[in-house]
Amino acid sequence: MPATPDPNIAPKSGDAALRERAARVIPGGLWGHMRVQGLPVGYPQFFTRAEGCRLWDADGREFIDFMCSWGPIVLGHHDAEVEAAADAQRRAGDTMNGPAPVLVELAETFTAMVAHADWVLFAKNGTDATTICVTTARAATGRRKVMVARGAYHGAAPWCTPNPAGVTAEDRTHLLRFRYNDIASLGQAAAEAGEDLAAVLVSPFRHDYGVDQELPQPAFARAVRALCDRVGAALILDEVRAGGRIDLAGSWEPLGVRPDLAAWSKAIANGHALAAVTGSARWRDAAASIFVTGSFWCGAVAMAASLATLRKLRAVDAIAHMQAMGQRLRDGLARQAAAHGFRIRQSGPPQMPMLLFDDDPGAALGSAFCALALQRGVYLHPKHNMFLSVAHRPQDIDQALDATDRAFAALRSACAEQPCDGV
Ligand SMILES: Cc1ncc(COP(=O)(O)O)c(C=O)c1O
Repeated sequence: MPATPDPNIAPKSGDAALRERAARVIPGGLWGHMRVQGLPVGYPQFFTRAEGCRLWDADGREFIDFMCSWGPIVLGHHDAEVEAAADAQRRAGDTMNGPAPVLVELAETFTAMVAHADWVLFAKNGTDATTICVTTARAATGRRKVMVARGAYHGAAPWCTPNPAGVTAEDRTHLLRFRYNDIASLGQAAAEAGEDLAAVLVSPFRHDYGVDQELPQPAFARAVRALCDRVGAALILDEVRAGGRIDLAGSWEPLGVRPDLAAWSKAIANGHALAAVTGSARWRDAAASIFVTGSFWCGAVAMAASLATLRKLRAVDAIAHMQAMGQRLRDGLARQAAAHGFRIRQSGPPQMPMLLFDDDPGAALGSAFCALALQRGVYLHPKHNMFLSVAHRPQDIDQALDATDRAFAALRSACAEQPCDGV
């Protein structure tokens, strides 16, 4: 039991004090991917406010935000229309004995928007959605094996977490791995699965941690589709991270490849907790047969927020805007890196940019650059893909670029004092 705080001493609320307090009552200070230990020194753990494309930490520092809460914030923090819809639903009712009418309206909106979708289920987190997809595929096929790309992240449940602590080998017995964009390795994994293949689970593009992102080769996407058709397995597209930022009808629509099942979450409700599974007709009975639920899965506020989010994404041509802003950022960073004599690589769709330095094992140089950018008011990530939102306007990108130019200059000075790799 933690020591009782002295009521005469006001609790300290700056970032360092909060971390110290958290370390006493929360294992490791925080769980999961938002733990600041993975970030360069100087990154805050706690935030007190967010608005548009800006956020403020517990020490009152303001940042232009290029992580967007790791994806959910697609329209900008605290979007007025989304929050008005959420507030109205909150006044009417949220977690009740069953869903509110907004469930049906949202389901109709999803099935109209997503090209492959004949039906939809809602849950809360991306892991819920990917797990439901896998369960549905197994229920439909009566098979066990699921193929996933090596290094891909599909959630934090025992069957897919990248961290082996507390997980048994049996939890992952039926996972088989292939290399993203590699048709030969896809074939090898399929041969291993034989007649027991329930599904191929794949992300719209390769967005693994710490490595260059890879867009899907059309031939690879078609090969995944052909394999699933040939053996009667489900093609599951994990849209949790990319969904809503590539193509609202589905991220593989531009390639002409439709999944059977897709998992959505992050961006679909602009920061409200919601996930969705969309599916085509063949998988409907299986989806009806499985038991998946959660105490908060019918919460109406997140659904109202989602409806408003999806409407606004369409109305403001959000994807084109995020692409343009991401490209403006990318072009500026490329110019600056060259001018300051650094070799960088920028990969993935510009609206979900990844920035890595050449010859930078462990991302030491990238981390130093991000720390310098943070000190100048720009929140970047040295190893994970970042995110643009509708709230990023040209003047925000230009302000961020002004700061990154100064960060590159400071990095150059630091490298002059102590030689850096990647230069
Ligand atoms: C591609 C992908 N799938 C699944 C998940 C799991 O989502 P959640 O953290 O909401 O459970 C994530 C989360 O980052 C993700 O990026």
